[in-house]
Amino acid sequence: MRLRAQYSCLKFKDNNMQGNPQVIDYLKDLLRGELTARDQYFAHSRIYEDQGFTKLFTRLDHEMQEETQHADALLRRILMLGGRPDMRPNEFTPGETVPDMLRKDLATEYEVRAALQEGMALCERLSDYVTRDILLTQLRDTEEDHAYWLEKQIGLIDKVGLQNYLQSQAM
Ligand SMILES: [Fe+2]
Ligand SMILES: [Fe+2]
Repeated sequence: MRLRAQYSCLKFKDNNMQGNPQVIDYLKDLLRGELTARDQYFAHSRIYEDQGFTKLFTRLDHEMQEETQHADALLRRILMLGGRPDMRPNEFTPGETVPDMLRKDLATEYEVRAALQEGMALCERLSDYVTRDILLTQLRDTEEDHAYWLEKQIGLIDKVGLQNYLQSQAM
């Protein structure tokens, strides 16, 4: 019985739910990824605003808020499972041009997607289905919203040319 409690994913101790240390560590990595994505959108959205690309600014400002919500959900889950969050984002350098910024943001979304997929597999192995579902929600936003939108912008530049694309984003 003691063994079973020790190896189960979630156990109750002193009235606090304790998460599996592997899940907590993974959540801490994911949190740093979300904070990085948030800061990247923060920087790029303000660069777009400064350059007069109002549509790109509005869209990325919204993405920044969504990444903050993702980080918030991970942070709350880490605390609930008895962990301590690490709030340091990973380092990044803002892009130089619009296509460069779009490509950097897409690369970040792909990295986040891979990390979320791996995290979901870990949660399933350890039977932490609630954390798994939190990650699934974020995976949907990552694939169907953030990455998909960025892929479309890069595709549009190929189709209509950079000058036409930039003109369409400047109002
Ligand atoms: Fe995210
Ligand atoms: Fe994202």
